[in-house]
Amino acid sequence: MITVLGSINMDLIATVFRLPKPGETLAGDNFVTAPGGKGANQALAARRAGADVTMAGACGEDEFAVPALTYLRYDGVGLDRVRNASAATGVALIFVGGDGENVIVIISGANGLVSVQDAEAAVGAMARGDTLMLQLEIPPATIEAALISARAKGIRTILNTAPLTADAPRLAALADIVIANETEFELLVGRAGLDADARELAMLDYGRKAGQTVIVTLGADGVVAARDGKLARAPSLKVDPIDTVGAGDTFCGYFAAGLDAGLKFETALRRAAAAGSLACTKPGAQPSIPFAAEVDASL
Ligand code: RIB
Ligand code: NA
Repeated sequence: MITVLGSINMDLIATVFRLPKPGETLAGDNFVTAPGGKGANQALAARRAGADVTMAGACGEDEFAVPALTYLRYDGVGLDRVRNASAATGVALIFVGGDGENVIVIISGANGLVSVQDAEAAVGAMARGDTLMLQLEIPPATIEAALISARAKGIRTILNTAPLTADAPRLAALADIVIANETEFELLVGRAGLDADARELAMLDYGRKAGQTVIVTLGADGVVAARDGKLARAPSLKVDPIDTVGAGDTFCGYFAAGLDAGLKFETALRRAAAAGSLACTKPGAQPSIPFAAEVDASL
């Protein structure tokens, strides 16, 4: 069983032939709204990978509260731990440029009200051997409380250090498994401009210190993991990326689901990397998360 404690957003996505410069107005090509938020995206990915998933977090009391949960509800993610908070539902304003690159502004709204009590309640309902997954779009004190309580209870904890915040190093130290991109990993170790070799040495070193597993996602170059003093790698699929939004979340959800199902670490890594690649071939976050059959067919 997996519980994801994290953010729920409505994504407002504009596609434009290139990203605008400050002060510039451009005519865009397309606009869609779709459910998103790193927490909700990861919950949906884990569910589509085949896991039994509960989402814990908060929506607001506005017109986005219902549509933000449509995909989770439809795919059978447990929503009993999603509460209404007196704030707006979180939104992400996303611009996707011609080559699939994006810029995102997040207004956290209800996500900012996910409390230590919410964390304790979510962890309290979990059992030893379950998996708890977190990201950095809810308050740091909430994440910290969840990680500490879960660890004390023998729950496997996975922290995705996205989006990058100053609290990342402190919180990452409390998780069993840390999933970071290259930039986030450099912040975790307080170093910049690492080449592949230096990064891998730093990963081994980082993992050894607190007996953690650390995974760094490298976009088109796949993923690398340091675990028990050894490195493991998985490739990306060769795809034509049109929109990378949701790719990292898809990786995290599929990876958690793989471990939770008892797959071998390398197998879970490979399946998750393939799923993340497939998410780059479709627009938006949740609409682009592949189903297990598509991922299996790609491997
Ligand atoms: O990781 C992608 C997500 O980041 C989007 O769905 C958006 O809501 C932001 O939280
Ligand atoms: Na996508």
